[in-house]
Amino acid sequence: MTERSFRFTHAVTRRPGPDVVSGLRAVDTGAPDLDRFLGHHAAYVAALRATGAEVVELDPLDGFPDAVFVEDTALCLPEGAIIMRPGAPSRLGETEGMTPVLERIYGEVRRVAGPGFIEGGDILTTEREILVGRSARTDADGIAELAGIVADWGYRLREVTVPAGVLHFKTDCSLLDAETILATERLAASGCFDGYRVIHTAEGEEAAANAIRFNNVVIMAAGFPRTREALDAAGYATVEIGNAEAAKLDGGMSCLSLRFTPPA
Ligand code: GLY
Repeated sequence: MTERSFRFTHAVTRRPGPDVVSGLRAVDTGAPDLDRFLGHHAAYVAALRATGAEVVELDPLDGFPDAVFVEDTALCLPEGAIIMRPGAPSRLGETEGMTPVLERIYGEVRRVAGPGFIEGGDILTTEREILVGRSARTDADGIAELAGIVADWGYRLREVTVPAGVLHFKTDCSLLDAETILATERLAASGCFDGYRVIHTAEGEEAAANAIRFNNVVIMAAGFPRTREALDAAGYATVEIGNAEAAKLDGGMSCLSLRFTPPA
């Protein structure tokens, strides 16, 4: 079994800028504090770099309040990168800022052209398949187009349903290793992870589900002690990062980066 779904040489992030106070949110709990967000973001980038990865840190993208959540703009696989087509109208233009960055790293990139929509937050790549959640941001046409784009690289796509009221598929799950998923009970109850080992987030700690396995560590949002305990007990090396500001915009650990190993 390979480990290419969680061992990476590269990541791309984008610092939040002043626009971030206008980012999309399901429930308004107040605007994020930019200075505090920048502090959390710097700690996140440092945690990625500490694993030995090269991290490309992009400047804020003026006019795009959610651009810090770079994960939604692309899917990066060892064979190539695919530019997504975000389903949130205010985020559609973010892909223009990401395309040249990934072209510099990968050479040519592929693109979801539409008419469908798909966001990276709805995509979980495991060693054996690509799971894509149908959500308010990702539709059947977007999923079908992505399936066609990656078919010649040998990937199998499986569509799953994101629970109502949940922003993205990966809001509620993360890959921990080739066989193991961290997931909320409400998502795992659908059976979408049958055949995998599942570690559930602790009751009341559903927001801990959006973590990332990045090389030797699991980077998770701070403030979820019982879920962290479960991960530690299962043998994972966990790193906690403050996420209070990103969480006001429904963002988490996976949303803040693209993680990949480009072709040599
Ligand atoms: N605020 C993140 C998003 O809604 O896309």
